[in-house]
Amino acid sequence: MRVNKEELFDKVVNLSKRRGFVFQSAEIYGGFRSTYDYGPVGVLLLRNVKEQWWRSMVQFRQDVVGLDAAILSPPSIWEASGHLTNFTDPLVDCRECGSRFRQDKLEDPNNCPTCGSKASFTEARQFNLMFKTNAGPVIDSAAEVYLRPETAQGMFTNFTNVLNTSRKKPPFGIAQIGKSFRNEITPGNFVFRTREFEQMEMEYFVPPGDSDKWFEYWCKERMDWYLNLGMKADSLRLRIHDSDELSHYSRATSDIEFSFPWGWDELEGIANRTDYDLNRHAQASGNKLEYNDSGTGERYVPHVIEPAAGATRTAMAFLMDAYEEEEVNGEVRNVLKLDHRLSPYKVAVLPLSKKDELIEPSKEVLNLVQPHWMCDYDQTQAIGRRYRRQDEIGTPYCVTIDFETLEDKAVTVRERDSMHQDRVSINELVDYLSSRLVP
Ligand code: GAP
Repeated sequence: MRVNKEELFDKVVNLSKRRGFVFQSAEIYGGFRSTYDYGPVGVLLLRNVKEQWWRSMVQFRQDVVGLDAAILSPPSIWEASGHLTNFTDPLVDCRECGSRFRQDKLEDPNNCPTCGSKASFTEARQFNLMFKTNAGPVIDSAAEVYLRPETAQGMFTNFTNVLNTSRKKPPFGIAQIGKSFRNEITPGNFVFRTREFEQMEMEYFVPPGDSDKWFEYWCKERMDWYLNLGMKADSLRLRIHDSDELSHYSRATSDIEFSFPWGWDELEGIANRTDYDLNRHAQASGNKLEYNDSGTGERYVPHVIEPAAGATRTAMAFLMDAYEEEEVNGEVRNVLKLDHRLSPYKVAVLPLSKKDELIEPSKEVLNLVQPHWMCDYDQTQAIGRRYRRQDEIGTPYCVTIDFETLEDKAVTVRERDSMHQDRVSINELVDYLSSRLVP
């Protein structure tokens, strides 16, 4: 059963801490509100989200290649991209209590949410979201560098390098997953808006006349990705930006939004960035950034369609969408009904008892399945409680070794959602699981 929206947020935050998905950064020092650490199961969920994105955007396509560009970058990149002037949010201060807010995110722009004062805000000023630091031992303005606020620019600045080495021609894309940093005025809603986060972005370079067609294509493709990984259709929507919402580089943008406990909010933006970025970098660097077809002699600056998703935000959305509570034998069972491709562990190996005679065959079963899938092994507590723990972290299959195993060389395999149990011969276990855990 789905949990009502009012309670869902607290339940998922609580589960995240209790079961090791997400911890507050620097918790032992009182916590650092704007960044989070991913625990033993959280890191697996996040890796799986990124892996599924990579499979669909790179592995399964011959028209997209990967990149891993640097995080530290010189001001020239951000001057050319427009981020030094335009990557700002409107900042207001409350004159009464000194709290600072992003003006466009205030529920009531005349009421301070911290102290309740009316009409106490200063005039909004534009606050640049980029983090600046210094490279090298001399701290002066010549050594200033920025932490990238998006992964995208590395794909534009490497356009010619990739074109020359990959033998691709438009339409083709460059994909990248990596950390980005934004000095958000008001981080919040758990890992939804943080100052350090991960993005999954792809820049798709197309002939200029084809950009509208490819924009539509990528909107559909990306919606299907979430649905195919089990996100509920009524949790998702595609929202077209009004013209006054468009970023400085965009001709058209649609957001894929998720129904978060606080309302619809962005998971991913799909933008038609035109030839803005390639032209800007070409002008600023003095290098031509264009496609030259040696067969037809045609030369042009490709236009760019960019599906830009947040990995950390998406992982959180999958967690919220999958969390359910059910009543089983008069008790509440919390279960993460994650698609098995996203589940942190695919298999849990559980000896029924801690007795020595069951430990050895259990370790043998573990050794058999562990090379194929991420497995958890747990031999403490009653079996019912161990099943509940695996349900709560979304493990699709629990394999139990019991005293009969010693006789029949078989194990019990329990499926998470139906709780249905099958007796499976150890010899056939890998085949049994392989047919269900399709990557
Ligand atoms: N290159 C385009 C770009 O960066 P964006 O809409 O600013 O576009 C893309 O960011 C995605 O990155 C967002 O849809 C969101 O999922 C994620 N994202 C952006 N800022 C974030 C933040 N402060 N914390 C977590 N995720 C964030």
